[in-house]
Amino acid sequence: MDSLWKGRFEKGLAQLSKNFNDSIKIDSLMYSEDIDGSIAHAKMLGKIEILTKDETVQIVDALKNIKSEITNNTLKIDYTAEDIHTFVELELTKRIGDLGKKLHTARSRNDQSATDLKLYLKRKVTKEIQPAIKVLVNNITKVAEEHIDTIMPGFTHLQVAQPTTLAHHLLAYNAMLIRDFERFSDCLDRLNTSPLGACAMVGTTFNIDRDFTSKEMGFEKPTFNTIDSVSARDHIIELSSACSILIMHLSRFCEDIVIWNNQNFNFITLSDEYSTGSSIMPQKKNPDLAELIRGKSGRVFGNNINLLTLMKGLPQSYNKDMQEDKEPIFDSVETVINSLVIMSEIIITSTFNKEEMLNSAKKGFINATDCSDYLVNKGMPFRDAYKLIGSLVADCVKNDLTLEDVSIEEYKKLSNLFESDIYNKIDLKTCVNNRNTKGGPSKEALLTQICICKEFLENKQ
Ligand code: ARG
Repeated sequence: MDSLWKGRFEKGLAQLSKNFNDSIKIDSLMYSEDIDGSIAHAKMLGKIEILTKDETVQIVDALKNIKSEITNNTLKIDYTAEDIHTFVELELTKRIGDLGKKLHTARSRNDQSATDLKLYLKRKVTKEIQPAIKVLVNNITKVAEEHIDTIMPGFTHLQVAQPTTLAHHLLAYNAMLIRDFERFSDCLDRLNTSPLGACAMVGTTFNIDRDFTSKEMGFEKPTFNTIDSVSARDHIIELSSACSILIMHLSRFCEDIVIWNNQNFNFITLSDEYSTGSSIMPQKKNPDLAELIRGKSGRVFGNNINLLTLMKGLPQSYNKDMQEDKEPIFDSVETVINSLVIMSEIIITSTFNKEEMLNSAKKGFINATDCSDYLVNKGMPFRDAYKLIGSLVADCVKNDLTLEDVSIEEYKKLSNLFESDIYNKIDLKTCVNNRNTKGGPSKEALLTQICICKEFLENKQ
């Protein structure tokens, strides 16, 4: 296929240069947005009477046909074209003759590609990423509701720290995911301005109506400086950062799952559909899907650095370097969408092993804080109580006892503040339910957290 800029040149591009320069294999993903942008542009040209009514209708109809034919696979994209903008324009001209050549009046591929990318990413965020976050939040909420009373050890430094519940632990991920959702909404604010009409960089001598095209394409308003319109990519970097933070969260979640799936923990049994076997060890059931999400965070972080590095030394305004923005952002977007979908399934199809979680919580003097809080409640200064229970734990370790095994007589020897209600105080259920701090693991606090998640699911779009 001929290039659009043939006139100025005597020779065509060397094949090697053409292969290196062409971007259609990647930017053809945006064919639908490219055509929507062209339709808006053609209507605007009609409005300012650069095109007649009849010409506008012909162009718009032909563009609509091209779009639906690509969608239903009756028109194959010609991958010898330089990019999707070139392909659409040449296909249009093939269909309606010289009239097709009028479409590019008062436009450049610089503003066109910036516009297409914003439209494409807006669609991906609102129609795929944000809904996929909601499905995951919904699945986590469902599992949390079933496990309000499921006691498990809470960890700091991956050491058993204090008792909590599975619901509490899982809802922490919902808190992260809700912030992620909001981060994507913030990205949408920046994606919502239309670069179209900036042309190559300084606008045009034609009396175009940028407000019209902006509205026509569903943007909030046009960008306010034409140089910035074609040269800014911070909105792409912002989106790639939001993808990085999201997959960092998923990766942490997966790390928990991998640990819980270890035989020595056995907190979780993954469904067969979301785990794999080994080719040599017949007993193996591996958490590969969770590991892969954890692993894929690497490529998403890499894409983020890629984009920052791509942009950091560029002078104003458009530079061809910027064509390299699409591959990393497309990859990050697809990776997070797929990871969210898999994660949602892992969570909803797994079995959580209540017994194992409870037994594990019984180890490690997880109720030592409650034991010292008991003394504090009876008037002992916290530091003294902490020290006294510390030495009691040390004795128990030596004698292979738990705090529940210590007799009331022994407790009384340590402090006469101890009464027989100490056993109730250090019972794990009491430990959890007494933590009625806002955001904590008590039943009441968890029900509030679940309400917050449900409100998010109902209200946010
Ligand atoms: N394929 C290009 C891109 O994605 C389109 C803009 C080309 N502009 C140019 N002056 N060569 O950035």
